[in-house]
Formats: sequence, structure tokens, C-alpha cells
Amino acid sequence: MSSRFSGVKLGPPIEVFALNKAYLDDSHPNKANLTIGAYRTNEGKPWVLPVVRKTEKRMAEDDTSNHEYLPVLGMESFTSAATKMLLGHDSSAVVQGRAFGVQTLSGTGALRVGAEFLNRHLHYTTFYYSKPTWENHRLVFTNAGFTDPREYRYWDPHKRAIDFDGLIADLRDAPENSVIILHACAHNPTGSDPTQEQWIKIADVMKEKKLFPFFDSAYQGFASGDPDKDAWAVRYFAQQGFELVCAQSFAKNFGLYNERVGNLTVVINSNDEIINVKSQLTLTVRGMYSNPPNHGAKIVSTVLNNEHLCQEWKDCIVTMSSRIKEMRQGLKERLQRLGTPGTWDHITQQIGMFSYTGLSPRQCEHLMSEYHIYLLKSGRINMCGVTTHNIDYIAKAIHDTILLLPESKI
Ligand code: LMR
Repeated sequence: MSSRFSGVKLGPPIEVFALNKAYLDDSHPNKANLTIGAYRTNEGKPWVLPVVRKTEKRMAEDDTSNHEYLPVLGMESFTSAATKMLLGHDSSAVVQGRAFGVQTLSGTGALRVGAEFLNRHLHYTTFYYSKPTWENHRLVFTNAGFTDPREYRYWDPHKRAIDFDGLIADLRDAPENSVIILHACAHNPTGSDPTQEQWIKIADVMKEKKLFPFFDSAYQGFASGDPDKDAWAVRYFAQQGFELVCAQSFAKNFGLYNERVGNLTVVINSNDEIINVKSQLTLTVRGMYSNPPNHGAKIVSTVLNNEHLCQEWKDCIVTMSSRIKEMRQGLKERLQRLGTPGTWDHITQQIGMFSYTGLSPRQCEHLMSEYHIYLLKSGRINMCGVTTHNIDYIAKAIHDTILLLPESKI
């Protein structure tokens, strides 16, 4: 029978979700999942942060709570706490009331709402993302109406470091009012951030060329264990007088992946514009999903607005970031001890969830098919999938693979 859907073409799979499923479907006893960016304990299990569990139990017992709609722009106690967490409580934008937040469906939702707003109301059409970047940036921005996607150089595979000259040259060439997507910290996938001096230079060029900063902050606190340190770049731009937006995700730092807790922080130079901007953001959200969900935002709001719970949360992010740092050290040491060809210092120099190993696509394929170690074909590995139980197996597999297939970029 004919179908009106017969013209629909098969879309490509989403690599990170397809590989995560392939891992789950694999029955090999030594399989390892270094794909999707989610934290794992040393037992390889997801971790519900104790402070989150405790808060959820209290919420479940609170007979005064209900399931009424939230406002279109979200829960005020959550958005203001998230905005302050990003910019700092003493930020002049916060103190002067020039910054506000919009609750969104995690960081991705914040990217989408922010991009749609910038396209529709500021008429921005060109956006730049780092090469490489999180594979969803391009899709989110083009779906939001941006018509001119461009890349700025970011990674030098030979030096295994940021191609800073290339980055600056590409920003210098960008047309006025281009939106520049900047990873606030723990760049995905490379795990390599600009130094403070480099951020200062990026800000100088962006100011001179009148470019618009759109930060993506998916790892605040998770990267270094210190939320203030991880917010340095965003705060610097705000202090320099930039008007900017920032997509904040609470998936990683609160372990709330499937609750879709996000905030779009907006910093504006003049308080006079805020009512109008909020009214248009309200229409953007209303026309997209009407209003956001409560549960995850309530958890984050409860924790960030309570001194004791907030301290417990800070202890949790130290636990997570410390385990990752230990695994980085352990993997590097093992590869060095095995005499694996190449240098491995980048594993400990990189920060956050991911290490950009430098393994070639063929080597990645081999690790998956022969060793049941799943990783992205770019060579990105999620360090959280490495544990004291599988670290020797993973190091040996990488070693043997490089010896067998020595065409590595390393
Ligand atoms: C990742 O990069 O693995 C995560 O941010 C998950 C995702 O949505 O891609």
C-alpha cells in the first residue's frame, strides 16, 4: 500500500546514542563504555548524588507540594540561583539586575531557546562553532533558524593542543554580529580549554570585531571541582561589559541527566530592555514547549539555596572530579609503563569528562570490535567509564591496537 510517508529518508544515527546502545547490547564480560558523557562510579554504575537523593526524599514527603504549571520562564528560585552560580553573587550584572535566567530543557534547550531568540529578534544568522565541537551544536542552531554555520579552528592534532593562532585568525575574519559558541570549561570533545591569557585575547578580538558570545556551560564545578574556577571565562566576559547568553546544564554537575534541568542566562547592558526581552523569550518558550518541568529544577533550587545542602553538593563534585583525575593519571602511567608508542601527557593535561586520545578511526573500530571497548570514532573517550577494575584491560587494549595498527595521528 502506498504511504504519504514514503518520501521520508532514513536519517543518520546519533553516534553517541547508537554506540551507547551497542555497548548495552554487547554481552562480552570485559566490555567497557567510554562513549556517552555520563559519570560512573568506580563500579561502573550511575551515581545519584547523595544530596540529590536526600532532597528528593524530602520533596516526596512534602504534602504541601503540587503539580501546578510553572511560569513560562520557569521557577524563579531556580533561575536566579543558577544565574548567580554562573556569574557570581557579587557580579555587577547580578547586583544591578542586568542578568536573568530562563529555565530550559537542559543545556540543549537553553541553546535552542537562545539561538531562536537571537535569530528572530536580533536577526543574527551566522554562527561559529569550534572545530571540533559537541556534535549537536550545528543541528540545534540550524533548527533554530541560523542559516550560515561556520567553524573556527580549535584543535591541532599534531601538537595535541589548541590551535590558538588559527582560532584568533578565524575570529578576526568573522563578520560583525556573528554568534560565537564558546565552551565555558572542559571543552567537549577535546578536554582542552584556553588559558586565562588566551581567554583575554579571545575577548579582545570579539569586542573589536563586534562578535556575540554564546557560552555553553555543561560542566560548571564538575571540571575542576570548583564552580567558581570553572566559571572564570564567562565571568571575565561579563566583567568586560559584553552582552551575552550562556546555556547552563545541570546534567553532569548534579547527575540529573534525564531530568533536563537547564538555564539560559542572559546578560544585558541596560535594565530598560529586560521587560521586552523577557516578553519575547516568553513567546519563544510558549511556542516551543509552553513551560518547563518542575522536578529537577526543584532539586537544584533547593540545594543551591541552602548553605548546608550546597556544601554537600560541592563535596559531591569534588568526589566526581577527583575520581576522573585519578583515572587520567592511572591510564597515562599504564600506557607509559607499557611503552605504548606516542606521548600520553595530554591525558592528564585535559580536563573534565573527556580525553581526546588521538586514536585514529581505524584504531577506535578495532578497540570496539576486538576488545568491546566503546568510544567515539573521533578518539574521544569518557574518562568516567575507566575504573580501577578495567583500567589495565583498557590500557593494554590501546597498547596492542597501536602496535597492530600504527597509523595513529599521535
Ligand atoms: C556527550 O557529549 O556524550 C553528552 O553531552 C551526551 C550528548 O547528548 O551528546
